[in-house]
Amino acid sequence: MSTTSPGAYVIRSIRADEWAAAKELRLAALRDPVAPIAFLTTYEEAVAQPDSFWQERAAGACEGAEEAQTIIAEGPDGRWVGTLTVLVEEPGTSDWAGFPVERKQGHVVAVFVRPEERGIGLTEVLFDAALQWAWARGAERVRLIVHEENGRAQRFYRKVGFVPSGVTVPLGAGSEESEWEFVIERP
Ligand SMILES: CC(C)(COP(=O)(O)OP(=O)(O)OC[C@H]1O[C@@H](n2cnc3c(N)ncnc32)[C@H](O)[C@@H]1OP(=O)(O)O)[C@@H](O)C(=O)NCCC(=O)NCCS
Repeated sequence: MSTTSPGAYVIRSIRADEWAAAKELRLAALRDPVAPIAFLTTYEEAVAQPDSFWQERAAGACEGAEEAQTIIAEGPDGRWVGTLTVLVEEPGTSDWAGFPVERKQGHVVAVFVRPEERGIGLTEVLFDAALQWAWARGAERVRLIVHEENGRAQRFYRKVGFVPSGVTVPLGAGSEESEWEFVIERP
């Protein structure tokens, strides 16, 4: 457990030229023991991607980007210790699973805080920034999808005001596992 307070961290959007640091943190997330129930991508898939993949990913969600924002927590030593990405989904489009989007909404994905920095209030600060960005973009609500067995993440999401919407998303054909949609309405 780190003894550093959340106030010692800088919370900010990434810049497009920081794709290598974003890649390193994403690969650390994909090596986390919880990764199989936390992320839809595997470490093996991600590590095989060319630099152009990481460059495009960072450019599409960097400071100033309209449709998505990757926000990071940077420690006092400059090390990136936590991240999430918030996407804007427009009504009239279909989401990644093919379901129609009915309201303008934010969608938080790729949530990861390094194990040493968990439980210190840092994740709350990352979420504050994500929600603020989504509300400023005109989102009516923000959602995220969490695996039924990811108890720690669920507990955290409830703590910051998300509630289950009742929508469940099956994890692929033939799978008995499912994920739950959690939402928070615009204040
Ligand atoms: C999910 C994550 C971002 C949450 O951040 P965090 O800093 O760990 O969150 P917090 O510690 O503030 O809150 C978690 C809560 O769950 C509790 N908790 C811990 N382990 C738990 C478990 N196995 N089951 C249920 N609750 C648990 C904690 O006590 C805490 O509750 P409290 O504040 O009321 O005591 C972080 O744990 C993480 O990066 N996990 C791995 C990646 C991941 O799962 N991403 C989410 C994908 S949807």
